[in-house]
Amino acid sequence: MSNLRSDTACTPCEDSAPAPVDTFLLRVWWARPDDLGPADFFATSLLDTCELDRLRQLRHRVDRQRYLVRHALARLILGEALNVPASELVFDRSCSRCDAQHGKPVVLGNPLHFSMSSAGDLVVLATCSRPVGVDVEIITRVEFPGFDGVALTTDESALVAALPAGRGAAARARYWTRKEALLKASGQGLAMDPREVVAESRSVADVDLAAGYACAVAIDAGKFSPGDQLSYQLINASRILRYRSGSGA
Ligand SMILES: CC(C)(COP(=O)(O)OP(=O)(O)OC[C@H]1O[C@@H](n2cnc3c(N)ncnc32)[C@H](O)[C@@H]1OP(=O)(O)O)[C@@H](O)C(=O)NCCC(=O)NCCS
Ligand SMILES: [Zn+2]
Repeated sequence: MSNLRSDTACTPCEDSAPAPVDTFLLRVWWARPDDLGPADFFATSLLDTCELDRLRQLRHRVDRQRYLVRHALARLILGEALNVPASELVFDRSCSRCDAQHGKPVVLGNPLHFSMSSAGDLVVLATCSRPVGVDVEIITRVEFPGFDGVALTTDESALVAALPAGRGAAARARYWTRKEALLKASGQGLAMDPREVVAESRSVADVDLAAGYACAVAIDAGKFSPGDQLSYQLINASRILRYRSGSGA
């Protein structure tokens, strides 16, 4: 699998104490939906009307919990970094294609960029002074016939097809999360054909989060200079949610 791993210099630094966000630091925060405990009202009280509307539209409890946790976490972490109360942050989510509020979220009037993703039992948030994208996926979710044809370049398809049996799913999921991270960093999302996105890039790195998951973080390639090296700090944000929601230390 080493041929598929990022060759960028990544320095994950698990659980280190959060310091103020500086201009070059890329951070990847992670938590679990259950970290909120039963104190949903606390997280819900942080959301704006747009977020509350989206939350109400989600039918399944597990989707609501993931949504609530990723948005509460984003507000708590960004609010702390920007010295603004979490519930007072104003986001713009204008879609670059149709202007509806379902596009890449940005904090209005602030250069701190962020991106979020959730899958299964994990919620991730990336913060950076440059446009950033993060994606997490359950590895088995990419195991379906036809995935390579809709998601991978010809070279990527050939590489995964040549892998020994049992290693293809992890490789495919790694490619997929890299592509989604790059597409989120640029703000295009899946409006761009993922087959046109090359997963091997200096501006994307794999994040080793948990068994059974693939995760990647990327800086918008247009904001990534030839001399730049991608490194990130990995932070367990569970205690932020637990402490702030009063559901335990
Ligand atoms: C963004 C996208 C890649 C997310 O895929 P996903 O794997 O289902 O979901 P994830 O949990 O990883 O990420 C969801 C988050 O991505 C963010 N996001 C949405 N659109 C985004 C974009 N264009 N760029 C960057 N981030 C985006 C949001 O924060 C979203 O969370 P939220 O809905 O709770 O606010 C995919 O849904 C997408 O591309 N959608 C837009 C497609 C599009 O442009 N359609 C045209 C509409 S006119
Ligand atoms: Zn749109």
